[in-house]
Amino acid sequence: MSDFAYIPLETKGWRMAMGLRPLDLGHWLEFDRRRDAELEQKRQLLDAAFDVVVATNPDGDEGSRELLAEVTQFLEVHHPEFDIPVRRDEHPVVAAARLVQEDLCVLVRSDVWRLQAACVCFPSRWNLASKLGATLDDIHRPVPIYDVELSRPTNAFFERLKPDRSFWRLNWTLIDSPALHQPTSARRSAHGDLADWFFRVERQTLRRLEVSGAIVFTIHNYVASAKELCQSHEEFGATLLLNLDTAPIAMQEYKGWIGVADSLRASLEATSN
Ligand code: HEM
Repeated sequence: MSDFAYIPLETKGWRMAMGLRPLDLGHWLEFDRRRDAELEQKRQLLDAAFDVVVATNPDGDEGSRELLAEVTQFLEVHHPEFDIPVRRDEHPVVAAARLVQEDLCVLVRSDVWRLQAACVCFPSRWNLASKLGATLDDIHRPVPIYDVELSRPTNAFFERLKPDRSFWRLNWTLIDSPALHQPTSARRSAHGDLADWFFRVERQTLRRLEVSGAIVFTIHNYVASAKELCQSHEEFGATLLLNLDTAPIAMQEYKGWIGVADSLRASLEATSN
């Protein structure tokens, strides 16, 4: 798995940061070799668990329509070879999400910015329905330290975001399952050795739409076996341990990492011998 797209570990230890970078809209959405499998998984989830993966309020309709138009235009320009018919008989945020690997969220400003439409097939241990209509602060309520470190800059960023400058960021976690669809927030306790753990990266983009003024938040998940990454990337194991060791306890609890570094250390030493 040496072609793993992103390894956003901090070389100096764990840090909570917005980490926003300017986004060239020519690279707004990404496609990889898992595209067909992920689009098929989305189809199955939309059939079997629609209410788990879709949440919409009427306030998100206009932004969702504009989002669908943007997604189809992006595909026409950058991937004309993907000829998937667009479903006009369903909510536009769902029709758009069927075309791309990304999960799609539409935020609209009323009193403040609120999540008003989303199709999220691949949540990393959170529940979409509970976030519909919520503010950024409420969405992030379970995230330790967010209120102190990120609430103010994130809200300010949303107030300033303009259609002509878009951004992207990366989030990573270590998780005990490679499944993309993880809609429950339960964190399991530490178990297993390196081979049982997976490095999960979210590539997120943020852009403001020109006409509706809505903000679109996209999430593309990349998952790889931690053991394979240790083998293919020399520094991965040591840097991962450093990040686990230096994460604040509240964050370790939130992520389900308590005790994990210790069990991984032994297994990493065994792997490197
Ligand atoms: C600049 C913008 C944003 C920043 C800096 C940010 C930051 C974060 C961070 C640091 C976490 C903790 C995740 C982890 O480390 O595992 C998180 C979780 C999360 N974020 Fe964001 N976020 C941003 C925008 C958004 C937006 C627009 C949404 C809209 C859906 C969102 C939804 C979530 C959700 C649902 C979680 C999981 C919360 C839970 O556990 O219930 N984020 N975010």
